[in-house]
Amino acid sequence: MTMLRSALLVAAAGTCLVAGAAMAQEIKARFGTSLPDEHPQTLGARKFAELVGAKSKGRIKITVYSSAQLGSDQQMQAALRGGTQEFTAPSTATLANLVKEFGVFGLPFSFASEKQADAVFDGPFGQRILAKLPERGLIGLAYWENGFRNFTNSRRPIVKAEDMAGLKVRTMQNNMYIDLFNGLGANAVPMPVNELFGALETRAVDAQENPFTVVYAQKFYEVQKYLSTTYHAYDAQVLIASKKFWDRLSDADKALMQEAAREATLYQRQASRDLNAKARDALVKEGMQVNEISDAERQHMREKLQSVVAKYQKIVGEETAKEFFA
Ligand code: PAF
Repeated sequence: MTMLRSALLVAAAGTCLVAGAAMAQEIKARFGTSLPDEHPQTLGARKFAELVGAKSKGRIKITVYSSAQLGSDQQMQAALRGGTQEFTAPSTATLANLVKEFGVFGLPFSFASEKQADAVFDGPFGQRILAKLPERGLIGLAYWENGFRNFTNSRRPIVKAEDMAGLKVRTMQNNMYIDLFNGLGANAVPMPVNELFGALETRAVDAQENPFTVVYAQKFYEVQKYLSTTYHAYDAQVLIASKKFWDRLSDADKALMQEAAREATLYQRQASRDLNAKARDALVKEGMQVNEISDAERQHMREKLQSVVAKYQKIVGEETAKEFFA
């Protein structure tokens, strides 16, 4: 537990919901993100905080802590469940450790475009998966965008799966991603993103995979030379609230936060797309070499991963997988 978290826990004991006798409740809440201020995840968090502040006329104050100041994605999810932090927005991949159905979204090469992703996440299927969170002590408010994931490494240009042989690649803490990269011939090493820069710098790992926006915001270009446009998975982040916190809110405050979440989602996805469009060129300017992956090679990777996909279709549930791929 970080010192900041300990201090906040003490401070939080009496400040989360401060009720004036006959007045509407004053509320303070913390929103932790794992990425820096300029990344769309944190931009979305700040927009949500601003909208909630405006809609409540300053009565509800959400403070945003970026760059994993409140802990890793897994630690923040645990804090939300325990009621010691109020909001965060992890990848569906780390949420899948709590609700297995979230794992379906990360299956390789499942989405063709952001537009298609929006339709799935905002449609009945995405909403049905979101509705599974309360049984794990969380409330799902919206899906945000992390984006299409691409592969980077410090060793050599990668243009086909076989080039990955033996590379140590950091993955998210999710078994499907571990199997995915082992299935492509690399050696997967799971770790939280806040430990990743150091691991790449010391060459404890050779490679990682993330959208351009994350590679840029985390300055991975300082420690990774080669960028391969694998687009191997589309990643969404889920805006979640602590159920312990949520259950103490009035219906009006819940509605206000749901409305703020809807508005912040439009802003967050657009920010992600705008920044993603610029980030690739920015990475080249910083000295990264881009290696294009052909459609034929992507098809080859997909074939290599057939058994991984089959395994996780069973794990997430045949019905869920069938509905997702329909
Ligand atoms: O690689 C990860 O861990 C995720 O993509 C990140 C950066 C935390 C965003 O959810």
